[in-house]
Amino acid sequence: MSERFVVVQSSTEMAVRLAEIQRACFPDLSEEELMRPEHYLSHQKVFPEGQHAVLDTETNEVVASSSDLRLNVDFDHIQHRYMDAVDNNYLTNHDPAGEWLYGADIAVHPDYRGHGLSTLLYDARHRLIRKLGLKGHVAGAMPKGYHLHPELSIEEYVQKVMAGDLRDPVLSVQLKRGYQVHGIIHDYLEDPTCGNYGVFICWLNPERQP
Ligand SMILES: CC(C)(COP(=O)(O)OP(=O)(O)OC[C@H]1O[C@@H](n2cnc3c(N)ncnc32)[C@H](O)[C@@H]1OP(=O)(O)O)[C@@H](O)C(=O)NCCC(=O)NCCS
Repeated sequence: MSERFVVVQSSTEMAVRLAEIQRACFPDLSEEELMRPEHYLSHQKVFPEGQHAVLDTETNEVVASSSDLRLNVDFDHIQHRYMDAVDNNYLTNHDPAGEWLYGADIAVHPDYRGHGLSTLLYDARHRLIRKLGLKGHVAGAMPKGYHLHPELSIEEYVQKVMAGDLRDPVLSVQLKRGYQVHGIIHDYLEDPTCGNYGVFICWLNPERQP
């Protein structure tokens, strides 16, 4: 499978396709928060090496992508809005001296899920973190299975996902790839499937640990 799918740096001619994948991957996200072609073009200008795409070498089609920026993180103040963290999806707040990679987005086209493509993208992001000598990766994960458990508070739901008693289609994938939960972000974005919550997750670069 890894011979068929390769991770490349995103390029300008992919922008329209990347926006199509985004739309297919986030059907419940508010229209204003969806990335459009002009956003991908901006990402490639401000931080080209932080933008990854997965290419299906059999069809030469882009089937997945991730977008990142660099910034500094204050772990005592994690409450923020997604759109503020990513400068309204343009990533123009990217700080070339930032010590952390912030995950703006990861999206695998629905037809290509469950084949390890997010794993390829997480590996590429971790390689970039090591190469740049950053402290690690942070992101506001979308707990997209939360709407199926209205009987639970978000804290109870995340605890159960962490314990392995429940499987979340997003958070469980990230936990399995070495991410830790740092806290709940309230009113992170507008998506009813995750109750508008984000889960602040963090992957630490082992080369930067004492
Ligand atoms: C979350 C997401 C990126 C995962 O991508 P993916 O390429 O399917 O992930 P992988 O194949 O690497 O891993 C998926 C896991 O689910 C399992 N799985 C089994 N069947 C599956 C299926 N039909 N679809 C998806 N995953 C399946 C895989 O075996 C794997 O299990 P593991 O964690 O035990 O290894 C993808 O579902 C997605 O794009 N979702 C919509 C966008 C989104 O919510 N992004 C995250 C925003 S924070």
